[in-house]
Amino acid sequence: MSQADTLYAKPLAKLVDFTFDEKVANVFPDMINRSVPGYANIVAMSGILSAEFFQKNTYCYDLGCSLGASSLSMAKAISEPSLTIIAVDNSQAMLDKAKALLQAEQSALKEASCIDFICADINDICIRNASVVVMNFTLQFIAPEKRFGLLSRIYQGMKKGAILILSEKLMYDKEEQQRLLIDMHHFFKKANGYSALEISQKRQTIENVLLPETLETHKQRLNDIGFKQVEQWFQCVNFSSLIAIK
Ligand SMILES: C[S@@+](CC[C@H](N)C(=O)[O-])C[C@H]1O[C@@H](n2cnc3c(N)ncnc32)[C@H](O)[C@@H]1O
Repeated sequence: MSQADTLYAKPLAKLVDFTFDEKVANVFPDMINRSVPGYANIVAMSGILSAEFFQKNTYCYDLGCSLGASSLSMAKAISEPSLTIIAVDNSQAMLDKAKALLQAEQSALKEASCIDFICADINDICIRNASVVVMNFTLQFIAPEKRFGLLSRIYQGMKKGAILILSEKLMYDKEEQQRLLIDMHHFFKKANGYSALEISQKRQTIENVLLPETLETHKQRLNDIGFKQVEQWFQCVNFSSLIAIK
């Protein structure tokens, strides 16, 4: 169902800022697997962790759900009749595809029809009664000045003992370290079949919209908000995942 990502294979006359439109939605699984080191591990572990921390009669949230990979991972792992996963994205193109994929996967799910897809800006939604909140590679697309407020609202909507899984691309303060990790990321993309032109054009279109922060910034902010425990549990090249427990 997913097509190969060739969106940047030919020289583009004009490089416009990256958006999650229909063209991206059509190739998204191929794009993210070939671009994000460790993506499959993080999605699988999102399911494993959510099954352990899910509390009966609460909600799971998948914020910036794209095609619903993390939602599906949770839905497959959690066997609870009361399970409702609220999967939010502001790209209708992504959600249209996500719904089609869910239909195809329905037989593999433990609980039928447990994912509610909502088209909205995650800055505008109300988070409540949550025991699991997954935000895999979405915060990096939120304006930096809105990140503290958004994470605080998520925290307010979480039950005691609930978890936030936060996965992000990282940046580094030290120039030398930043350069090496960026190079290593490009080696990963090259090994996955992207040409130098594809890597360069994609980088130019995404650098104004994907704004990474340091690991220390992420941890400090989650601690300042009040999370009881914050741990980095995964890193592959400059892509990382944290768990924050309320
Ligand atoms: C890199 S993708 C996330 C991948 C996805 N979580 C997964 O695990 O496959 C980022 C997603 O966040 C969505 N997004 C970005 N900003 C958003 C916002 N303000 N509100 C809702 N969704 C947003 C984009 O449309 C896109 O689908």
